[in-house]
Amino acid sequence: MADLVNRQPEDVGVLQEAGWEDVIARQQVAYAAACENFRILRRKYDALKECHTELLWSRAVVDAEGLGADLAADAPVAEADGVVGGTALGRELGRGASSVVFEGRTADGSPCAVKRIAKASAKTLREVRTIGAECEALRALSAGGATPALVATMSTPKFLYVVTDLFGEELYGHVRARGLLGPRPRLQVFAGVAAALARMHEAGYAHRDVKPENVLVDFRGDAVEVKLCDLGLAAKLPDAPRFAFDGGPPGASPDSVFASLGQYAQPNHGPLFRCCGSMGFFAPDMLDVRGYDATRTDVWSLGCLGLELALGSRVFADFWFVAYKTFFAAPRGAGDEAGPFRAALAPKLDAVGRASRGEPGGGACEGALPAFSPFGDLVAACLSEAPAARPSAAECRDRAAPRARTAPTAAPPRAATTARAYDVIRGLARPSSAPRAPSLLDAALT
Ligand SMILES: Nc1ncnc2c1ncn2[C@@H]1O[C@H](COP(=O)(O)OP(=O)(O)OP(=O)(O)O)[C@@H](O)[C@H]1O
Ligand SMILES: [Mg+2]
Repeated sequence: MADLVNRQPEDVGVLQEAGWEDVIARQQVAYAAACENFRILRRKYDALKECHTELLWSRAVVDAEGLGADLAADAPVAEADGVVGGTALGRELGRGASSVVFEGRTADGSPCAVKRIAKASAKTLREVRTIGAECEALRALSAGGATPALVATMSTPKFLYVVTDLFGEELYGHVRARGLLGPRPRLQVFAGVAAALARMHEAGYAHRDVKPENVLVDFRGDAVEVKLCDLGLAAKLPDAPRFAFDGGPPGASPDSVFASLGQYAQPNHGPLFRCCGSMGFFAPDMLDVRGYDATRTDVWSLGCLGLELALGSRVFADFWFVAYKTFFAAPRGAGDEAGPFRAALAPKLDAVGRASRGEPGGGACEGALPAFSPFGDLVAACLSEAPAARPSAAECRDRAAPRARTAPTAAPPRAATTARAYDVIRGLARPSSAPRAPSLLDAALT
């Protein structure tokens, strides 16, 4: 019917001559033929896609890429009724773009976490390499305790399974279920993430996706153990660029030359170039075409995580996350993005800096953000615009851990803290007198 309605006026005569029924019958035949052609093409496409996936994951490719030790390609692993290669799959723990993580039990009865990755989600050799790199990083870091240890990898024609030991619960889920952490656990978690990052950096890896969803916490009485999961974006730190240091100006050293570039505080590794991570957490220097020091971008993400722990997820979203969202949603010209993004974040960083120093911000902002006090200075330092000015992850650990021992355990009442922090932020972001449309957050807080 829609076809007839959309016809051009000159077709009307043809329709009347042939008779409506004939025309409709012919249209239906043509439509059925087009559908059949489409189904044939779809079947061909699916077959080729399957063939492509098979080739990408074939022994020959996996071995040639040096991934053989980590990825058992084409291995005849049995998969039936929620059991794969002897590992039983239980409830779902989380899911990402291309994977689902299940709670599981290994053949010997030990609890484990099983990440199931769809092979078809890797469409290029580079994506196969990325999955291989995740396994390689897990293997390399297994002994250090910064991440869950790799137990096994196994492969079926359709999926790849990465089995690690089961550890704690996701920080994001924990805070969402139980509310804002008290000052001590907040500091313990911050110090724990810093410690895990420091161990990764010492082992020669950067995480590149630090956020509460990728932090596992295990609260045991007054103690908290922390590990980082999801090494999907983790990268080996490249060797330092080799250059001959000819002495330079008096007093100069390779360190000071790197520091003057503002990028590499440590000359013992080189830059990375791929901008990756999560909105609200990746550092602006990741957009720098000259590359970035991934240990310092990890520390920026640690600062963002500290900010979220201090403010609570709703306030964090309204104050900080929104700056990322707005910047990347707006049309931008080609070329340098790092500079404009830094400029977009500048007022937020100024507000964080002032609040962490306890300086009045004017308007509705009277003093420091209340929930910020235990480590506001550290968060502000991690969020330094210049990468070289950020502390290392080890420094963050060493500065936060002693404070955690003396900080009070109990959290202030949740609603009051959140509402107060939000009021202060609102004052920092806009003059309190300016009229403003009510947001969802307003509705939730009243
Ligand atoms: N070893 C583990 N112990 C307990 N829970 C885990 C473990 N590994 C993962 N999880 C849970 O599963 C969730 C998803 O895991 P992960 O972050 O590795 O995958 P993802 O985000 O789905 O991956 P990707 O983004 O690579 O597709 C985590 O947020 C965490 O809640
Ligand atoms: Mg994740």
